[in-house]
Amino acid sequence: MKRINIGIIFGGKSAEHEVSLQSAKNVVAALDKEKYNPILIGIDKSGKWLGSEKAQLLIENRSPNLIQNETITSNETAILPTQEMLGAGKIDVAFPVLHGTFGEDGTVQGLLKLAGIPFVGASVLGSAVGMDKDVMKRLLRDAGLPIANFLVYTGLTGVNFEVVVNELGLPFFVKPCNLGSSVGVFKVHNKQEFETAIKGAFEYDNKIIIEENIMGREVECSVLGNENPIASLPGEVVPQHEFYSYEAKYLDENGALLKIPADLPKETIKKVRELAVETYKVLCCEGMGRVDLFVKSNGEVLVNEINTIPGFTKISMYPKLWEKSGISYTELLDKLIQLAIDRFDKEQKLKTSY
Ligand SMILES: Nc1ncnc2c1ncn2[C@@H]1O[C@H](COP(=O)(O)OP(=O)(O)O)[C@@H](O)[C@H]1O
Ligand SMILES: [Mg+2]
Repeated sequence: MKRINIGIIFGGKSAEHEVSLQSAKNVVAALDKEKYNPILIGIDKSGKWLGSEKAQLLIENRSPNLIQNETITSNETAILPTQEMLGAGKIDVAFPVLHGTFGEDGTVQGLLKLAGIPFVGASVLGSAVGMDKDVMKRLLRDAGLPIANFLVYTGLTGVNFEVVVNELGLPFFVKPCNLGSSVGVFKVHNKQEFETAIKGAFEYDNKIIIEENIMGREVECSVLGNENPIASLPGEVVPQHEFYSYEAKYLDENGALLKIPADLPKETIKKVRELAVETYKVLCCEGMGRVDLFVKSNGEVLVNEINTIPGFTKISMYPKLWEKSGISYTELLDKLIQLAIDRFDKEQKLKTSY
């Protein structure tokens, strides 16, 4: 049997570049080599696409400076992928393991769609929706799913501390709409912090969201599937900082404890899993997604957000939760690749002319 060529796209122009390298390394190692032939496609921090040997250097994280410098002179590299990387017959299925902007937001998904390559995970719409906290929360609200109250601003006009406090109380959260990894996220307790937060968040995006503070435990649930998605057991993140900030996520080794699975009452687990699946469907997701929620002390569950390309290292929440739910890392990769092929085949059957 011919092995399926899996193009693993990793790295990227994102705050989560290093996490992506780690995720990609683990994916390559775990793929069943009897069935699949992994092909590395790297994107460096400046956004340049790298084929074969350069991608190998990048994944090994050997002297990132060297790669940066080399990319400027090399004709093998480009801002866009070359025929060598995504041309006809080069790869059978793409697996974007790109976290954050320019990878998780629908841009790479659009490129793969144009190239006619089946790919793992949410398509263009689901990726874009999941990236924009304003659109995401409006869809969730419209579907009647429980979420925090929020306000959205596209400029400084009308942004007023008293108005926000009146609507949402104190403290509250200020975030850029299109970002992740808690970059530009502020917990605001007073007017002075408000000024700093607004300025800070607008540095990352032209649209910001302000949310009421939810007092609760942070739980995460893995979802898998196309038309009939299933949810894993939930896990819990216990931040050791005031909230699950960038520092707690990536800089402080002991920034957060992961409890896999989460120690929650049976009814709460059921509610979390149901809400996770509903969220996934409402947000037009396919393949995979990690839904993050809050559980209040009275048992109430609220949805926080979805991540369409969750961390995928062996110790990351998404695969770990599946492992606890009976699907090993290697099996999970099998299922994700199959889901990508299923969606592609289904789309191929559609008429493209009248
Ligand atoms: N409304 C909220 N109430 C309480 N904590 C919040 C709220 N919004 C965000 N947080 C905290 O900030 C973290 C990052 O916010 P989140 O919306 O998940 O953004 P990101 O996409 O950057 O992960 C959350 O994990 C949580 O700790
Ligand atoms: Mg988050």
